[in-house]
Amino acid sequence: MLILGIETSCDETSVAVVRDGVDVLSNVISSSWKTFEALAGVIPEQAARMQVECMIPVLEQALKEASVTMNEIDAIAVTRGPGLLGSLLVGTVTARALASIHKKPLIGVHHTLGHLSSTWLENGSVIDSNQRINQLTNPRSHSSENQLPQFPLLTLSASGGHSDLWYRASHPRGTLLGRTRDDAAGEAFDKGASMLGLPYPGGPSIQKAAEGGDPNAFEFPLPLHNEDTLDFSFSGLKTSLKYLLRDLESTNKPINQLTPDLSASYQHAICRHLVDRIDRAIKKHSDVKEIHLVGGVSANIQLRNLTADLCAKRKEPLMVRVPKTLSYCTDNAAMIAAAGFFLSQELGEKAFVRFETKASMSLHETILSV
Ligand code: KG4
Ligand code: ZN
Repeated sequence: MLILGIETSCDETSVAVVRDGVDVLSNVISSSWKTFEALAGVIPEQAARMQVECMIPVLEQALKEASVTMNEIDAIAVTRGPGLLGSLLVGTVTARALASIHKKPLIGVHHTLGHLSSTWLENGSVIDSNQRINQLTNPRSHSSENQLPQFPLLTLSASGGHSDLWYRASHPRGTLLGRTRDDAAGEAFDKGASMLGLPYPGGPSIQKAAEGGDPNAFEFPLPLHNEDTLDFSFSGLKTSLKYLLRDLESTNKPINQLTPDLSASYQHAICRHLVDRIDRAIKKHSDVKEIHLVGGVSANIQLRNLTADLCAKRKEPLMVRVPKTLSYCTDNAAMIAAAGFFLSQELGEKAFVRFETKASMSLHETILSV
């Protein structure tokens, strides 16, 4: 089944053609981020206007790269929310028009379900602690990658907008085990980077600044350690960094020289908290077969390595899977096409019901409860 995916929930305009939820024939992404870089934030009206302009060229490019015509497409999947309303409408109006003109079935996809499907694209990359990843652009290959992911599994979905931990019984069925009580993990990286004087987005710049730094140089608390919960909280780490910097400044120490150690310690604190939640979730759900990391923060090497170490330590080692490329970690249309395929496989006609485009959607609308 050939699905055309469309994703426009934030500043990206992305169109992809994916076969059977796994084979990516094309995944074109045009981002207006550079326009907003200096502001460290998107102006919604302007982003939507730019998306109107690039929507059709991106669509044409995706069909061209995939060497297919609209006639060969079996269905269209589009992000119906959550996100910036104007941006979402550019995608959904385009999808509705294409579906009507070319008489194709249309599937509305929750953005988060797209991220949850991203580890199926090209079967994802399997990581283990014996062969640590040291180059983001060159994920190591592994024989298990030939195998599609096995349910039930746990997925940590962490980006600039959310940090959620899911138990998943199948594509559309599962349980939200934990969510953030304040900032998202990506936001903690972004705000920390800004305090450290590092450029936006904070995740990649903290990761780079942390190279050669000592992750144990500065001590940070382990959030929610004494509570019986799988929720996340990052505001305490952010505050700790703020006071640490204030104290260092008052001693007149040259902070710039400490940036590698500060970045490495702060990155370690965020990743340790994320992995601590995964550890607790595995203990509660001993039937899970795999751990998946998705969303922008899943690109983080330390998060990947700590998760791989945790899973390898177990009596029965667990497989850790991440998206195959960095472009599948961040927002992209291939993951929306994949989610559309799996919804149609598991829900049949119900996947094609009429839907509304919505800026806010509850996480509980992502998947059905088991
Ligand atoms: O999924 P995404 O592209 O967009 C949202 O839906 O938010 O995630 C963007 C977030 C940003 O906060 C960015 O700092 C973070 O993902 N990020 C990273 C890394 N690459 C991107 N965080 C940690 N380490 C990275 N290598
Ligand atoms: Zn996203």
